Amino acid sequence: MAIYNLGSINIDHTYRMAHLPAPGETIAASSLLTGLGGKGANQSIAIARAGGAVFHIGCIGPEGGWTAERMAADGVDIAHVSKSATPTGHAIIAVDDGAENAIILFPGANRQISPGAAQEALARAAPGDWLLLQNETSAGVEAARAARARGLRVCYCAAPFDPEAVRAILPFTDLLSVNELEEAQLAAGLPEGALDPVARLVTYGKRGAAWREPGREERVGAFEVTPVDTTGAGDTFLGYALAGIAAGLPLDPARRRASAAAAIQVTRPGAAEAIPQAREVADFLADRA
Ligand code: RIB
Repeated sequence: MAIYNLGSINIDHTYRMAHLPAPGETIAASSLLTGLGGKGANQSIAIARAGGAVFHIGCIGPEGGWTAERMAADGVDIAHVSKSATPTGHAIIAVDDGAENAIILFPGANRQISPGAAQEALARAAPGDWLLLQNETSAGVEAARAARARGLRVCYCAAPFDPEAVRAILPFTDLLSVNELEEAQLAAGLPEGALDPVARLVTYGKRGAAWREPGREERVGAFEVTPVDTTGAGDTFLGYALAGIAAGLPLDPARRRASAAAAIQVTRPGAAEAIPQAREVADFLADRA
């Protein structure tokens, strides 16, 4: 089944430094890398590299043409990536020597997607297809509602955490994707037990991930690697996992492939460009078998 991804497209400026700056501190970066990012674009690239069919719904500014071209080169359908006069979204990313990051987001054109444009893109979708969305664009609630009405399944990556968006989109969600911190924030912001009926994919960084649904809880471990940059690891995991699920793979191999893809991704600098191809993931899994 196809995946329609209402997703952010960012230009990531990644600055490398010994440690993340404390409030009031000035640090000189040792390097700067500019590349394709945005949770949406990263997830679309991961789906495409995993072999999935992905239609990206997004918006870029006048200077962002190269971002969409890069996505198209990977096989992402960009027919519904529009252009606006607002600059392309960007992220200022600090990465320290331990591969941890801190991100400042400028949403830019990602917030110029109209509900009408999202609904029009979904008019091509068939029942059983997936809508994937995050919290970095406009039109999320309207798209989720329209997707449900058309018989699509909705996968909602509730990042960056926004309690209002979660409250509005959760009723239309079939699969919720969060990291450990977001899951705790969600549970604290919602009435007790509100999350229990929703299937959840929860990532725990180097401690792996969990699949939770009513009556079932399973963990998948992470592969041991030496990370250089963890930016986009969760996006890689989710993109690979959803591509597997949409292709009808049983949950276990889908999660294992996702875990291997994320393990490879963190050994490389950058976000989208660091995501491995399906062949590399297969080779990695064969080596670790
Ligand atoms: O999840 C990582 C992504 O978050 C980065 O690529 C950045 O653009 C922000 O959207």
